[in-house]
Amino acid sequence: MTTAVYPGSFDPIHNGHLDLIQRACRLFDLIVAVAENAQKRPLFGLEERADMIRAATRHMPRVRVETFDGLTVEFAARCGATVIVKGLRGPADLEYEMRMAAVNAHLAPHLETVFLATRPEYAFLSSTLIREVAALGGSVRGLVPQAVERSLRDRLRNGG
Ligand code: PNS
Repeated sequence: MTTAVYPGSFDPIHNGHLDLIQRACRLFDLIVAVAENAQKRPLFGLEERADMIRAATRHMPRVRVETFDGLTVEFAARCGATVIVKGLRGPADLEYEMRMAAVNAHLAPHLETVFLATRPEYAFLSSTLIREVAALGGSVRGLVPQAVERSLRDRLRNGG
């Protein structure tokens, strides 16, 4: 079975990510790769983000969650993965994702990027919007796993 890496910041994981993980693990042995991404000043620490994904994917035997720093292609090579999986929410994602796929193909020509179309009901979702709504006191119920909803409440109550 082919091993694929699904990289992202996952700050935090939301139901659109989870749907993609569920679908991708029918096609691949899947490693969800949580990027350190220091430039983005994440709301949740690296291990916190990974633990939230582990909790939400506990029932998916073909999914493993890892953290990494540095290049995705190097992480994929260390894991023996031959595919990078990314979700495409629509045309707005396409340009950025195509650029990343092209750079990754330049760096690692044998690594394929496979895009899965986000289901329409999740096409509007992003971690940025989740953080913003939660920070402003809005409800994110139904958009993130319940444990993530609690973590957001706790983190934001404690000043972000
Ligand atoms: O969820 P995000 O923030 O859109 O994910 C972006 C991510 C983590 C996939 C991307 O920033 C990435 O691959 N970072 C690792 C560093 C790297 O490989 N950069 C070159 C990509 S062309």
